[in-house]
Amino acid sequence: MQKLIINGGTKLKGEVQISGSKNAVLPIAVAAAILGDSLSVLHNVPNLTDVKTLSAVLEGLGASITRKNESLYIEPINRMEYEAPYELVRQMRASIYVLGPLVAKLGKAKVSFPGGCAIGPRPVDLHIRGLEQLGADVDVKKGYIFAQADRLVGADMDLTGQHGPSVGATANVMMAATLADGTTVIRGAAREPHISDLAKFLTAMGADIEGIGTSVLTIRGVKQLHGTEHTVVSDDIEAGTFMVAGAITNGNVFVRGISQQQIPAISEKLTEAGVHLEWNDKGVWVTVPDQLKAIDVTTVPFPGFPTDMQAQIMGLMTLASGSSTITENVHTDRFIHAAELNRMGADIRLEGRKAIVNGVSYLSGAPVMASDLRAGAVLVVAGMAAVGETVVSRIYHIDRGYEAIETKLNNLGANIVRVKDND
Ligand code: EPZ
Repeated sequence: MQKLIINGGTKLKGEVQISGSKNAVLPIAVAAAILGDSLSVLHNVPNLTDVKTLSAVLEGLGASITRKNESLYIEPINRMEYEAPYELVRQMRASIYVLGPLVAKLGKAKVSFPGGCAIGPRPVDLHIRGLEQLGADVDVKKGYIFAQADRLVGADMDLTGQHGPSVGATANVMMAATLADGTTVIRGAAREPHISDLAKFLTAMGADIEGIGTSVLTIRGVKQLHGTEHTVVSDDIEAGTFMVAGAITNGNVFVRGISQQQIPAISEKLTEAGVHLEWNDKGVWVTVPDQLKAIDVTTVPFPGFPTDMQAQIMGLMTLASGSSTITENVHTDRFIHAAELNRMGADIRLEGRKAIVNGVSYLSGAPVMASDLRAGAVLVVAGMAAVGETVVSRIYHIDRGYEAIETKLNNLGANIVRVKDND
């Protein structure tokens, strides 16, 4: 394993280029590999371990995938392999995305039931409900999901879950519906930028989808989908993370390759916290003219404040003047980073779904541990603002969703070294 050694105290300055969206490229690669009947080429593909893991899953199903710099060349599956094995699915929940496309394309699928992870149980009941509404027979046994259907038939359904729309279920069912007989209406659909990018990719493959970006998607099934070329949308969460990094170090950073339309709530909340954002058509300048101000944040599905930025905004609020309340409404157990931030001198108290963050005047470097992707990111961000040395272990979590995080941050003036972790 590896760890990052961070010497804090430097103000970040300069420009950082945002990479392609992890949460867009994962379902898009699945659609290209399973639903298409010819070569697809994806550009702006981030170099992440999750992309490597998914490529292994798709190659196990018979696709052939070649990376050339920032592009992925995907030849779709050409045999009847329909099982996504446990040893790969357990590494990455997004493997569940192959379920709907395999049933739509091959008439059957066997996918390991995804395990939980550090941010709480990750049920897939909405995925299953949606596929059953399309006429699939779905059975869960011995840790696997078995699904089959001679032919999927379009249906009018509501996929809203107890926590609101589901990104994964929307992606899974939308992909399956593109090859179903007739029209599917998905009400309560997720509206995240990565869902819109997936829908745009499917449309470019020949799918017939209306309502992209809204909570009602209408998909008219077609007989087949062809390969296409697509540039993956930039990563809204990576952008938000670097904006917080610029703000928490009181720096002067230009985050290139993001638009305000992609991150309306992040932009609004950072501004409310006293971060000055100067937008242009290439990206945004981030500075903090005065003291950071405490704010209240509640995470909700897009276009609200994203749960994947909850850890990062909590990190920023540890140094704001006053008391902030952060409410996590999407995932059931996503405050593990609070204890690690408290080890660095933060003052965070948890009360169920709420975290009360009382601003302190400084953070102190400490050895801390990443528990999930975004928790790891906030520890790096806090380490750059802290006095002294911070050592972040288990950084494989971070590498799942951030491309060369220390390289990008060191290019902005940070002092971060990646070393082997013999612990
Ligand atoms: C996606 O996960 C993202 N992952 C997550 O990002 C993100 O946190 C999440 O959407 C919410 O935005 C990818 O896109 C690969 P959901 P997903 O289905 O699809 C409940 C990151 O940091 N639910 O929108 O699994 C669920 O328990 C990762 O990049 C059901 O109840 O999330 C949760 O409370 C972490 N039944 C809520 O809905 C279901 O069948 C939202 O989950 C599915 C979900």
